[in-house]
Formats: sequence, C-alpha cells, structure tokens
Amino acid sequence: LRVSSGLIEPDGGKLVELVVRDSERDLKKGEALSLPRIKLSRIDLQWVHVLSEGWATPLKGFMKEAEFLQTLHFNSLRLGDGSVVNMSVPIVLAIDDAQKHRIGDNKRVALFDSKGDPVAILNDIEIYKHPKEERIARTWGTTASGLPYVEQTITNAGNWLIGGDLESLNPSSTMTDLIIFDWPRQNSVRNSQGNADAVFAFQLRNPVHNGHALLMTDTRRRLLEMGYKNPVLLLHPLGGYTKADDVPLDWRMKQHEKVLEDGVLDPETTVVSIFPSPMHYAGPTEVQWHAKARINAGANFYIVGRDPAGMSHPVEKRDLYDADHGKKVLSMAPGLERLNILPFRVAAYDKTQGKMAFFDPSRPQDFLFISGTKMRTLARNKESPPDGFMCPGGWKVLVDYYDSLLPS
Ligand code: ADX
Repeated sequence: LRVSSGLIEPDGGKLVELVVRDSERDLKKGEALSLPRIKLSRIDLQWVHVLSEGWATPLKGFMKEAEFLQTLHFNSLRLGDGSVVNMSVPIVLAIDDAQKHRIGDNKRVALFDSKGDPVAILNDIEIYKHPKEERIARTWGTTASGLPYVEQTITNAGNWLIGGDLESLNPSSTMTDLIIFDWPRQNSVRNSQGNADAVFAFQLRNPVHNGHALLMTDTRRRLLEMGYKNPVLLLHPLGGYTKADDVPLDWRMKQHEKVLEDGVLDPETTVVSIFPSPMHYAGPTEVQWHAKARINAGANFYIVGRDPAGMSHPVEKRDLYDADHGKKVLSMAPGLERLNILPFRVAAYDKTQGKMAFFDPSRPQDFLFISGTKMRTLARNKESPPDGFMCPGGWKVLVDYYDSLLPS
C-alpha cells in the first residue's frame, strides 16, 4: 500500500531527522566516548527514539528551558517566524546534582544506554532547574500520588533538566524490544509515493474492539462521502511505556493482526505502524501531543473518541478527566488548526442489535459499557464478551496473553 506525500506539511515546514549519517557514525561514537556520560533510563531512550525520527518536529533535541516553559504554560512553541506549533508535553531529560557537577562547563555530553553503548550526543547543552511539582501539576492537572508516568520518571528523578541538540547514533538500538515487528519507520507513510488522498490516524494503546473499529470504518465512509477517492487508515498503536495493567505492545500487535485478518478492518486500505512515544495518561493535554506527532507522520485527519489518553483517578473512584474534554480541547488547540479533527461519540454494546454502536442517550437501558477493567476480567477468567464486541481471533489473543501471565 502506498501513501502520497504532501497531504500536510510537517510542523515548521521541514521534518527534523537527527540520526547521524552512516559514514559519520564511527567518528561520532569515538567522540561520544570522550564526553561526560549520562546513563539513560528505558523511557529516556524512548524519547531519544521519538526525537531522532522527528515526531516532535521542529524540536531538535531534549527541551531547553524556553521550550519547556512554553510547553508547560502555553501547550505550544513559537517559532522564529512568529508561527505557532503545538507542543503540550515536556520532552525533557533529568539529571541529578552529581551528574550536573560532573558535566561542569562542558557544552556537550554523551547519552548511554543501560548496556553501556553510546546512543547519542547532546550538543550546545543548557542545564536548568527541574520544577517537578509545577511540571506535574501543569501536565496532569493534579499532583495526586499514583500517576504512572510520574512515578516512573519524575518522582525519583534529579533536580535538573538538561536540554540540547541531539545527534542520534543508532536509533534502532534504542528500542530493541520493538524491532521484532520489523515496523516501518513513520516516514514510510510520509515518504512513499502513491495514491492516497487522505490519511486518517487512529491513536490507540488498547486492543481493537468493534467500537474502535466503528470509529475507523465510519471515518472512511465519511471521507468517501466528502469526495476523497482513496482515504487510508493509519492504525497507530503507541509503542513506548504503558502502565502495568495495559496489554503489552507485542500482544497488541498480534491482536491487531487478527483484526485485519478477520476483516474487521480492511487490510487493503490500512497502514499499521508504531508510534514510539511513552504514554503519560495526561488526558486532554496529552492527546494534543498524540495529534501533533501524527501531523509530522503525514496524517491530515485525526480520530478522537471517548476519554483519549485517560485513566481512572489514581486515588478517587472516578475517571481522572472529563470524557468529552479530550475531543473538545483537540478541536481548539493552538497549532493544530491544520489537522482535521474527527470527534466521535462514545460507542457501546447495543443489546438490541447485538453489536457495538454509537450510544443513543434516548435509550440508555439498551447499552452495555464494557470498560477496560471489565474486558481484562473477562479475558483473565477465560469468559467470552458478548458476541459482536470483538472478533473471535482478536479475543483469543487476549485470553492467551492473560494465560501467559499465570504461573505454570
Ligand atoms: S488512548 O489512550 O490511546 O486514547 P484507547 O486505546 O482506549 O486509548 O483509545 C483509542 C481511541 O479510541 C481514542 O481516540 C479514544 O477516545 C477512542 N475510544 C476508545 N474507546 C471508545 C469508545 N467506547 N467509544 C468511542 N471512542 C472510544
């Protein structure tokens, strides 16, 4: 399947790519070995990957303070020409006092993975305070304890942030766990020549149920009605960090494969690729990042439904975010004006039809909401969801996954 380029320009006009040329790699690795070292966590590495491939274009590396403050306070960055691009989550690298001391007056540092291999050089660095509470409060709208990304990356992180221009030495080594899929780089969507006249992106971090599929098939129908001849779906699972009770990427990929095999989605008009970002679970703030990155991937339509990037409140018995705010915010977000947002109502299981359908508030008693928790419980107990909730092949993958977690 081929997708035409030129449907939408990357933010700032030009896609940033930060991977050094093959011919320079050995030289740069040698340089890296002579620089002060920062050892990266798994999630830091995922950000190196995200930055290297230009998903955060026009960002050229981990944020310096001016970018960090604009992100926190405006959810956007102002470029040299006065234009504004969206940027809603900080992409930052934290270091502690000892690391800061070791770096001293150096203007460059090298980033190493946990195996001790250099993965990148950070040039023209700037070190500034890491205002953790403010960062958390502004990104998540709460400082409640138990936010998964916060606990993983911020609570115990250093008191300083280090920004600079990134030169990536070998991006594929930064996500060894993803390589098994032989996943196409995002640019393959943008660069390949072809005949798609619209690309509509679907961000997800969950297995595809028929409610998700309804949003995607309905979008294609709407685009055909609007006169597009070959709208292409970018099925775009998030590949970076997810919280412990989400289904891991490798299992989700198997599940997505079944959904295409079983014809729930049309393999002829679907591109499956991986979005390497870690997940924040920051609701309306994060969904802007999800959408912005898809502009850079070449998508010009973006689907959004119920409670995107949401989760249950970590301490109270309710969702953390209003389920409608994500789509409302996305339709108004600074810097996303060029992206066509396709907001959808919530889909639920319609008992009268025996399938997933858009919720009809005039007859609520006919609908069954099958939450993620409910779905996990069913699959774990090897029970089946109602017929028409998910294709049998896809459901079997989930049952197998939960089976694999049981002690043998
Ligand atoms: S997300 O964290 O990636 O946003 P998820 O994988 O659950 O979560 O959802 C992917 C997309 O489907 C999001 O746009 C979300 O709003 C939408 N969505 C999920 N479930 C439903 C539903 N029942 N009805 C309508 N939209 C939904």
